[in-house]
Amino acid sequence: MKTRIKNILQEKGTGQRLTITGWVRTRRDTGGFSFIEVGDGSCLANLQVIADSRLTNYDSEVKHLSTGTSVIVEGELKESPAKGQAVEIHADRIEIVGHADPETYPLQKKRHSFEFLREISHLRPRTNALGAVGRVRSRLSYAVHQFFQGRGFIQVHTPIITTSDCEGAGEMFQVSSGKPGAKEDHFFGRAAGLTVSGQLQAEVYALALGDVYTFGPTFRAEKSNTSRHLAEFWMIEPEMAFCDLKGNMQIAEEMLKYLLTDVMTNCPEDMELFDKFIEKGLLKKLQDVVDQEFAHITYTEAVDRLKSAKKTFEFPVEWGLDLQSEHERYLTEEVFKRPLTVTDYPAAIKPFYMRVNEGGKTVAAMDILVPGIGEIVGGSQREERYDVLVSRMEQAGINLADYQWYLDLRLYGSVPHAGFGLGFERLIQFVTGMANIREVIPFPRTPGSAPC
Ligand code: 4AD
Ligand code: MG
Repeated sequence: MKTRIKNILQEKGTGQRLTITGWVRTRRDTGGFSFIEVGDGSCLANLQVIADSRLTNYDSEVKHLSTGTSVIVEGELKESPAKGQAVEIHADRIEIVGHADPETYPLQKKRHSFEFLREISHLRPRTNALGAVGRVRSRLSYAVHQFFQGRGFIQVHTPIITTSDCEGAGEMFQVSSGKPGAKEDHFFGRAAGLTVSGQLQAEVYALALGDVYTFGPTFRAEKSNTSRHLAEFWMIEPEMAFCDLKGNMQIAEEMLKYLLTDVMTNCPEDMELFDKFIEKGLLKKLQDVVDQEFAHITYTEAVDRLKSAKKTFEFPVEWGLDLQSEHERYLTEEVFKRPLTVTDYPAAIKPFYMRVNEGGKTVAAMDILVPGIGEIVGGSQREERYDVLVSRMEQAGINLADYQWYLDLRLYGSVPHAGFGLGFERLIQFVTGMANIREVIPFPRTPGSAPC
């Protein structure tokens, strides 16, 4: 039975015989001894293995162990006399499982650029930084479920293939059976695509089960080749019945603070690595977010602030135009210096499902902006009034017959309800300080790139 290095380093049970499995990170030889750093991915730290000529394969194999080689090590855990680690394994057996040719293995000891590592996405999780991202991502995913389940939310698996374009932005990838001669659209009887959001289906379950959430992959065929856009990303979408915009804002703020606290508590070594090598001051930034109340302004106030800013923007600022990333970042980074919720956007630039405010010019929308990223959460109160929704859908040029099921929810027991979407990769970018979103998803899909 193997023991994970994370557990060994936590328990430090010296005197035990243990088996570990992993990959050689470095090897150093001094007078008949070798010090081998072995990592198994369970944590950032490696375990030091001491090997000597008592091993039958010492001269033939152990002395030649190279970075990337996979090994099984058995031995006794002892207190380490040297600085740098509390414990080490004195090996009495080292089995080489798979060689890694030092002539061709791409991960050498030097630091590699993230751009280079993207070209070897099958090997990059073996680096310290990308391994740490993998662990932090897993922890955050777990914490998302803990947060919602702990508050009585019920998880819904919304479909990946759908005939509804939730955001109405025409960014759905089309799905076809791909069979030669098959009529493109007709596998499902009509045009279907990969979901851009699970929201509409989550609304169905919210109006039956109360508070629900969905957490799954979403797809957008938008040609935005930026450091914050992916063609395939994961989204967390809670939807709450009997809830208005204010309640929605509260749960979003509570959720973000919960997730940041959780990851700092449970991934301290990985988070320190990011603080030290990726974004200096990261931990303080995150702790400040947890400790402060989010700021809140309306879209109209945001436009006023931007217009009076002593800064020239690339994109125009005018009531009725959408905020661009440079505007969002100016507000959260320079004006408020903390997360900022912007609400009540012009109806004309937001999807059909958002609830129309009094006067009809704006909708009960909310975006949460954070320093370094811009928009991390987008949500709204939903239009629960049948007639208002119908006229919004007509204005948007939507075929009502295709969405009768959605309209029915407003005919039978309609209630005020609200929800939002948290972009999981944007969250991980914020938490790790990674500049490019391609580093926080294992296999990024972007225009022109889906290598494996
Ligand atoms: O603002 P969006 O488009 O909102 C929705 O999809 C709503 N239906 C959500 C809801 O109310 N249930 O997307 C939500 C979030 C954004 O704030 C952003 O964090 C992320 O999803 N996001 C992306 N992340 C990576 N790549 C992309 N192309 C993204 N587009 C949106
Ligand atoms: Mg949005």
